[in-house]
Amino acid sequence: MKNNKLIVALDVDDIKEAESLVDGLQSIVSIFKIGSRLFTAYGPEVIKMVNGKGCRVFLDLKYHDIPTVIADSVRMAGRHDVFALTLHTLGGREMLERSVSVESRPLLWGVTVLTSMNNEDLKTMGVNRDVGEEVLSLAGLARSAGMDGVVCSAREIEAIRKEVGGQFMVVTPGIRPAGSAEDEQKRVMTPKQAITKGATYIVVGRPVIKADNPHEAAENILREIE
Ligand code: C5P
Repeated sequence: MKNNKLIVALDVDDIKEAESLVDGLQSIVSIFKIGSRLFTAYGPEVIKMVNGKGCRVFLDLKYHDIPTVIADSVRMAGRHDVFALTLHTLGGREMLERSVSVESRPLLWGVTVLTSMNNEDLKTMGVNRDVGEEVLSLAGLARSAGMDGVVCSAREIEAIRKEVGGQFMVVTPGIRPAGSAEDEQKRVMTPKQAITKGATYIVVGRPVIKADNPHEAAENILREIE
């Protein structure tokens, strides 16, 4: 049972720990998220480790810089056989379009507004519309710039689907299987709710990697979304 809709976040400090998670899950999970924590510590070695086990890498480094620097970084990610990569849509249209036009590149997923931010935070940055409107507007920018999808919170899936249509990928963290700890997550959704609402992929970290039995935890999620 290898369901590609589940991405497991390798949010750990140590590459050996990441490797044992991949070893334990690879029979049922094929995509693993590597974030800035593990990548800062190990660099491309950690990409190689995941690829070497026949799995794919979602590199969540949320790039945001001048267009030429980001387009070159996207090219490098392609060279390292990264499956998908995140860019901040706030980097602007030219940064996104230049990245999209890179040959042999990973899938490019846009980050809109970080789920840790609310309307007050946006105001301090001079953005006066509410989070929902800002997210939709940035998702529209991602789509029109030719990106492959966006990362968004589960509560935004439906509105984004309406805005961008069915083909665009919608990738959703903030997922909690029914009955599990919510950690600091405030507005959570179950795996099934997120997939039913139109998520292409769900990203799950702690409910799997901190479980006593990560394989069993992942299997329960897969069973739920089958
Ligand atoms: O909460 P959990 O451990 O499942 O988080 C998995 C991933 O989802 C994290 O690596 C983080 O990048 C992302 N996340 C997010 N927004 C949140 C919480 C987590 O994007 N509010």
